[in-house]
Amino acid sequence: MECVVQGIIETQHVEALEILLQGLCGVPKESLRIHELCLKSAPGLGVVASEVRLLCDLEQPEPTWTVRHVGGAMRGAGADQISVLVRTVVESKTSKNVLRFFYALGYKLDHELLRVGFAFHFQRVARITVTVTSVNKMPKLYAIDDAVPVTPGIQLVEVTAPASPENYTEVVAAVSAFCEYLAPLLHLSKPGVATGVVPSAAAAAASLMSNGGSKSL
Ligand SMILES: *[C@@H]1O[C@H](CO)[C@@H](O)[C@H](O)[C@H]1NC(C)=O
Repeated sequence: MECVVQGIIETQHVEALEILLQGLCGVPKESLRIHELCLKSAPGLGVVASEVRLLCDLEQPEPTWTVRHVGGAMRGAGADQISVLVRTVVESKTSKNVLRFFYALGYKLDHELLRVGFAFHFQRVARITVTVTSVNKMPKLYAIDDAVPVTPGIQLVEVTAPASPENYTEVVAAVSAFCEYLAPLLHLSKPGVATGVVPSAAAAAASLMSNGGSKSL
């Protein structure tokens, strides 16, 4: 399982967010350039339509593919009350010919994206990952060099942490607590809940840029 929240930030404030994250996490950022293929199962294959994502981080010295399936979100009164989404995830490393394998299974390419940005990985009760990326689409298949932003001037921020049925309460609390620190710059909520940008972002960014993030510590 994983706990996840998402938000958006204007590209002009990303540098301030990076300073804040650097100060909070105390680890260097990692560059990301993720090629993502979203596949959907053709009708007739299984009862429920299935969606898988093939991911490849092109920043790695030896890029490898990962297949990722996001399952259902946790439901019930308890789940509704928390501001973090808890969902099942299955992830596995794959070989390079994975796309042919899924085509052979009857999956079809739905869309293709290139996410460019950075990530911070750190331990704060839970093992938290923060990614800040611009989402780009390609004019034609595999035309990575011609990728153009889907939402120009806006970047996607995602905070995730691995969890289990035994410890998700603790992980949700850790993720929520961490999100509080980012609140002046962006509002994070469950994926699919539209949030928009935060009015205080410009002032918070200016303050972070002028003191190098030290105040936020
Ligand atoms: C919760 O469980 C997951 C899966 O076993 C593990 O990866 C994670 O580190 C655990 N987190 C905490 C805070 O115990």
